[in-house]
Amino acid sequence: MSVSLMDEIPDASVSRPDARPISRPTSSVKRRNATRCLQFLALIPLFYAALILVACLPGPQRSLVYMNGLNFPLGVNFSQPESLGFARGRVRPLELVTMDDVRLRAFLFLPLDLYHHEVDTPNPEPEGKALLDRALAERETVIYLHGNAGNMALGPRMHTCRRISEYMGMNALILDYRGFGGSEGTPSEEGLIQDARSAWDWLRGHGVPAQRITLLGHSLGTGVATRLTHSLQQEGGVSAGPRALLLKSPYTSLPEVVTDFRFFRFLPLFGPLRYLPGINSFISRIMDTHFSTHHYLPMIQCDVAILHGTRDDQIPVDHAHRLRDLLLGPIVGESGEEVLLEEASFPLVSIPNAYNVLHVADHHRHILFLELTHATHNDIQEYDVTWESLRVFLRGRVG
Ligand SMILES: *[C@@H]1O[C@H](CO)[C@@H](O)[C@H](O)[C@H]1NC(C)=O
Repeated sequence: MSVSLMDEIPDASVSRPDARPISRPTSSVKRRNATRCLQFLALIPLFYAALILVACLPGPQRSLVYMNGLNFPLGVNFSQPESLGFARGRVRPLELVTMDDVRLRAFLFLPLDLYHHEVDTPNPEPEGKALLDRALAERETVIYLHGNAGNMALGPRMHTCRRISEYMGMNALILDYRGFGGSEGTPSEEGLIQDARSAWDWLRGHGVPAQRITLLGHSLGTGVATRLTHSLQQEGGVSAGPRALLLKSPYTSLPEVVTDFRFFRFLPLFGPLRYLPGINSFISRIMDTHFSTHHYLPMIQCDVAILHGTRDDQIPVDHAHRLRDLLLGPIVGESGEEVLLEEASFPLVSIPNAYNVLHVADHHRHILFLELTHATHNDIQEYDVTWESLRVFLRGRVG
């Protein structure tokens, strides 16, 4: 193809009188090129069909869903958070052991103000157990369940934990699921729930009451957070579960994400499939991993916040709308009163049209829905309005 194109471009350097005339492709050459081109085009659907077949196999499917093979940033020493730039003892490396005996790496961020208080004493012990015990006893803790691909040391994940421990003054516990980063094992839906459970159990074992723990999920992790909340409440009632469930860039279920998801933010690999009749039930049948948030969320009874960027190009905001409607349907319909927040509720945030906030409270609980007009899939933690609204939401009072 490219050769015949080049041949047809008149070149000034060959217009000398003694130059040989430019050879023109004969019609048979043109025909041959056209045939090759068609043959190549015919291969594309074949490649695509092969890709779909491969995606049906458990191993490759797992790689596509979890993308834990993309272990960036590389070369992190998970026993030494200081190597990521944290002050000595401010972020504690933990090793969690799951019920099925998988060892996981985790970081516990201590609140910056408590840390400063310690290092300003005459005989500071920034790495001591006393500071850890004090942080767990005096402050609430957020367990952060991250999304797929990469390990917990990724910039946006560390930034989120910084915001929790610096802006919010809370402890932040982040872990790498099995098969991610420095953690052992292979990921699976039930496995990830056990992994989150091991972080929960670690905190409970260190004397933290259930109602002083909040679960925050991002992307893939919203399904983990929702299912863990559900199973804790099933076991011991609402008070045995987390105080709040925060869903950052959530989805209704993974099978429903498949045709929407853009790989590397631009490639809707399975988007064309959406036009096939019956495709959704087919995808649901061949997928091992479901994380059916739309099934579990309506059964959950603690405070719930949903945060989503309108410009999210990986999981469209429509998923958050559907979850919001699942939650608010029964509440607004019955005894609940609806409170719409004005921008004035967050006087520190002044970007015009930056967000839509819907806050609903009845006498049982609070629901917060925050849609950030400028945010995408991975940058919700960058916005002050995110933390301003969570701050007042977690205080148990909005507006
Ligand atoms: C990782 O950090 C630990 C604890 O500080 C240290 O003992 C170990 O040598 C480090 N490993 C590497 C490969 O640097």
